[in-house]
Amino acid sequence: MIDPEVQKARNMTFEINPVIVSRWSPRSFVSSEISDKDLFSLFESARWAPSSSNSQPWRFIYAKRDSQNWNDLFNLLIDFNKQWCADASALVVIVSRKNFENNNQPSLTHQFDTGAAWENLAIQAVSQGLVTHAMAGFDYVKAKTTLGVPDDFEVMAMVAIGKRGPKDKLSPELQARETPNTRKPLSEIVMDGKFGIKAKSL
Ligand SMILES: Cc1cc2nc3c(=O)[nH]c(=O)nc-3n(C[C@H](O)[C@H](O)[C@H](O)COP(=O)(O)O)c2cc1C
Repeated sequence: MIDPEVQKARNMTFEINPVIVSRWSPRSFVSSEISDKDLFSLFESARWAPSSSNSQPWRFIYAKRDSQNWNDLFNLLIDFNKQWCADASALVVIVSRKNFENNNQPSLTHQFDTGAAWENLAIQAVSQGLVTHAMAGFDYVKAKTTLGVPDDFEVMAMVAIGKRGPKDKLSPELQARETPNTRKPLSEIVMDGKFGIKAKSL
């Protein structure tokens, strides 16, 4: 069942698994704890993503709110993101191994593979009644040193995870943005055989 809020905001051309369209990135969180079971189920779902040669380049560095490491992750964020994710239940920095482990050759697809893992995590969160919000708005250089990320790994993104909170917790500016957004039409992103050639049936 698709939530009426999502149904209203998001038009689909074809019917898909409701959990996919139900994932969106709210900014209001209820200040609450997340259990290891709930959090690690998200990592479990990420673990089953496909990757080139099954290289599994993804790594997840997490801090739960009120934990010793929370401030290390939180303080990496730009002020815009700090203002809304202070009540998230966990922050996760996702890093990706640039070279294959077996031969140390560069992987052309490590970001692609790690992106797939993040989406698994985000979709699983929906089915657990949780929300996720990915962020690029943080200090990537400082993240590497603060979190002790080795040089053969690249910092990809940070994710706030938690329980969705009421809209009115946010500033008026952010309240106006607290709604599922939409997407480019399929006719713009799908090409028939050659770049720029639209599919006739779209
Ligand atoms: C890699 C990445 C970085 C993002 N960085 C930020 C960010 O720093 N701050 C923010 O508020 N939202 C950020 N977003 C959220 C996107 O704006 C959001 O995913 C996009 O508008 C699509 O909306 P939806 O996730 O609600 O479907 C980021 C999303 C991704 C995937």
